[in-house]
Amino acid sequence: MNTKLQLMAGGICLGVLLTICGCQPKNQTTTDTTSENEVNQATNSPAPSGTTNDLTTSTTTNAMMSRGGTNMNMSAPGTNTDMSAGGTNVTAAIATLAPTQGNTAVGTVTFTQEANGVHVVADVTGLSQGDHGFHIHEKGDCSAPDGASAGGHFNPTGMPHGGPDSPQHHLGDLGNITADASGHAHLDRVFSFLSLQGTNSIVGHGVIVHAGKDDFTSQPSGNAGARVACGVIEAK
Ligand code: CU
Ligand code: ZN
Repeated sequence: MNTKLQLMAGGICLGVLLTICGCQPKNQTTTDTTSENEVNQATNSPAPSGTTNDLTTSTTTNAMMSRGGTNMNMSAPGTNTDMSAGGTNVTAAIATLAPTQGNTAVGTVTFTQEANGVHVVADVTGLSQGDHGFHIHEKGDCSAPDGASAGGHFNPTGMPHGGPDSPQHHLGDLGNITADASGHAHLDRVFSFLSLQGTNSIVGHGVIVHAGKDDFTSQPSGNAGARVACGVIEAK
């Protein structure tokens, strides 16, 4: 009897176990998936630790590379050029305008670095009454009799010509200065897009006053006519 009971009990136990086993596989499918992920994760964990090491190594390598890049940038000619030009610490500059051949325009333009841009104050005399195109040109070279040596408009950002308030314009597009009946033009304005510092510093570039008005539309220079005065922007 005891044996039968034990067998019965064993059968019940087996039944229970089978039932459990019958259910468990389904649960285990999910559980296994999870556990397999866990296993995979666990399995991957050692691998990631190796991968992590690789990543660490490559990260270190990248860091070293970027350090190398930074170092290279530090020693890059641009920085040195700025340094040699005193570019990084320039807060004020001046251009003395001299007349081109056959013209009488003379003047002074001062540039002061401010938080919102560069404050430009220009006083030019010897002009015909009216508007005159007023630009920063690419080259600080006024050696040519007609000022052509100053090149085109200062345009490091590759934009079309326009006025200083146009959506797109050369960095050198300062608009017009207007001469009164005595031939004197005065400009006092802060240009937000100008800088005396950094890559697009205007220091070392040219200033040109034209015979005619800049129409802000004609390419590449606003159809402002001949160059009547030229100067080089020099750090103070
Ligand atoms: Cu010009
Ligand atoms: Zn322009």
